[in-house]
Parts: sequence; C-alpha cells; structure tokens
Amino acid sequence: MQRPTVAEIDLSALRYNYHQVRKLSDSSRKFLAIVKANAYGHGAVRISQELEKCGVDFLGVAMCEEAAELRKAGINSSILVMGGIFHNQEDDFIKYDLIPVIFDMESARSLNARAAQNGIRLKVHVKLDTGMGRIGILPGDVEAFFSSMKDCHQLQVDGLLTHLAIADAIDDTATSFTCGQIDAFTSLVKKITEMGFSPSCLHLANSAAIIRTLDPSFNLVRPGIMLYGISPSPALHVDLKPVLSLKTKIIALKKITKGCSISYRRTFISGRESMIATLPIGYADGYSRQFSNRAAVVIHGRRAPVAGVVCMDMTMVDVTDIPAVNLHDEVVLLGSQGSQSISAHELAEIAHSIPYEILCGISSRVPRQYLNGS
Ligand SMILES: Cc1ncc(COP(=O)(O)O)c(C=O)c1O
Repeated sequence: MQRPTVAEIDLSALRYNYHQVRKLSDSSRKFLAIVKANAYGHGAVRISQELEKCGVDFLGVAMCEEAAELRKAGINSSILVMGGIFHNQEDDFIKYDLIPVIFDMESARSLNARAAQNGIRLKVHVKLDTGMGRIGILPGDVEAFFSSMKDCHQLQVDGLLTHLAIADAIDDTATSFTCGQIDAFTSLVKKITEMGFSPSCLHLANSAAIIRTLDPSFNLVRPGIMLYGISPSPALHVDLKPVLSLKTKIIALKKITKGCSISYRRTFISGRESMIATLPIGYADGYSRQFSNRAAVVIHGRRAPVAGVVCMDMTMVDVTDIPAVNLHDEVVLLGSQGSQSISAHELAEIAHSIPYEILCGISSRVPRQYLNGS
C-alpha cells in the first residue's frame, strides 16, 4: 500500500482560473502560461496538456531542460525559455523547436551561428531590464544591442519583454515604480521598432499586472500564480480556485498524559492529557520545519495545531479538541475540508515566505493525483 500523502490537483480549478485570466485580460491577447518549476509544483506535463486543451498560445519555462521534458511528453505549443540559452544548448533549442529569451550578445551570436549551420531562421524574444535588475538589456544599452542584432540574420526578434519587480504591491510608491517600468518598456519598444524591428509579441504582464489591469496595451499576458488559483498578494482580491491540495492520513494516534514532550528538541510539552496524531509528511516533502508549533491542519473540518517540530518524514498534530478522531482519517495540510481551509498565503506567512515557494517546495516524493481532467 502506498503512503497516503498526496498533492491533489484539481484540473477543473485550473480551467476556471484560465478563463478568469481570459476575462480579466481582453481575450484577443496572446496567452503565455507560466509552467516553469514543474508548473509551480503542480506537474508541468499534466498542467501543460490541460492548458493546451484550454487553448493557450505559449508555455513559459525557465530552462531548456524543462522545455525538453514537455516536448518529450508530446506538448506541441510554442515554448518560451525565459531563463536564456546556455553554451552548448543551441542544438537542443533547434531540436525541440524552442524560443529562447535572449539578453546578451554572446548567446545571440552563438545561436545565430548554429542556426546558420542548420540553414534555419529562429525566433527569439529579447528581454529588457526596466527595473527588475535580474536579466535583460539595460535601457542605455538597447541601441548598441539592437544594432548588433541586425547582423544576426538567422535570428528573428519576434518578441520583446520585461519583468515587473513589484506589481503586486498597491501602495503609491510601488505603483509609481511599476508605472515607470511600463513607461520605460513602452518607449524602448518604440525605439526598437524605429530601428526596423517588428516583434509580434510584446509582454510584461504577470498575474499582479493582469489582476490590476496595469498594461492593457501589450498583446501577450504571462500569468503564473493566478493560474494555480492563488492571488500574488492578499491585498489583490480576485475570484480564483486553488488547484492544489496537500493531503494525508493519520498513521498513529496516541493519548499522552500532562507533561509529555513531542518530537525532537522537546519543544512541545502537553499542558493537559492530550491526543496526538502522527502524519506521514515532513520537511523532506516540502512541509516546512518553519511550521513547527505554528501551522495547523484540518481534520473532520476542524483545525488541529502542529505539535512539536516537523520531522523529515513525519509531523505530529494535537487533536485533543476534535472528537472521535481515528487512525486513517483524512488530514488536509493545504486546501479545504468542510468549512475550514489552509491557504498557501497562510502557510507562507508562517514560513516568512510567499505562496510561490510553498507550492514549488512540495517535493517530488509527494505523488501528484489529477482530478477532473477534461
Ligand atoms: C519572467 C516571468 N514572467 C512571468 C512570471 C509569472 O509571474 P506570476 O506567477 O506572479 O504571475 C514569472 C514568475 O516568476 C516570471 O519569472
């Protein structure tokens, strides 16, 4: 029998969120679904298959290896590799028909040379750095870069993109920074167009920008977290359905007397006679050690606090206040049961992190179970 810890992925919720993005961002715009990092922990292949059926135009991954996994699984959509192209990966980009994001002349030249040897012309998107400070051509270098790109005859600049650093923050200072990035991108696009380039895709909208309808004028959107049913910030309210639920079952249940300790380091000492349930999930599954004595799970539609430190493979919870708890009862660590739910935002706050990290952190040893596929 299999360990009962699973990540349930509700594909009907994914479809719902896809349509919410379409509603929020004029449906004539191209749709690039971000499926990097194993689709934020949801399983890149199955998620991409479902998104293809929904009618997505592009898929976005971070690395060539992620794109290769999708191609080997039969995914046919256009794939943008956003983290760039590394030395010796040129052949894989050609073999798997991938679109690289380019942000330096050296990789542009070597890709151009490889494309020339193969007698083909490749589409590329060029990243512009308008304030993220990560990758991208800085505004002051745009002219020189695109002048050199004119010599790369085998490369077709089919897209221009930038990435917003703080679009999820709604205060005035952050918003003016975001608007500044959008303005900078707008003028760089104009400049590059005037230099003779005619990219068919212009994009900067992540989930926060889509929810806030910050950039109605560019013709491609690039949502990630909202597809998985989570708002990028608790301050941004939007109707979405969480796709992933993390569930397990009780594997041991014991009554302990007042004064007993639970788990390593003895950080939990029972203040009364207590019922303690042991769950087969731990930090090696992505259930962070930060949740020790701080997070809760849901059993019988009621919350039970984590008791003691989270171990590598197991976690204990205090079920004293929940009547009639039994071995093998279902436990929800992330998701809903009855009227109670544990959100990725709640867990992220406890872990001093963000929902993205909570989702991506669910490790490969947790089987993904897909429900409601189309
Ligand atoms: C370049 C790029 N575009 C789009 C996204 C999607 O962002 P979000 O998940 O906030 O929608 C990401 C995510 O990190 C990204 O790196």
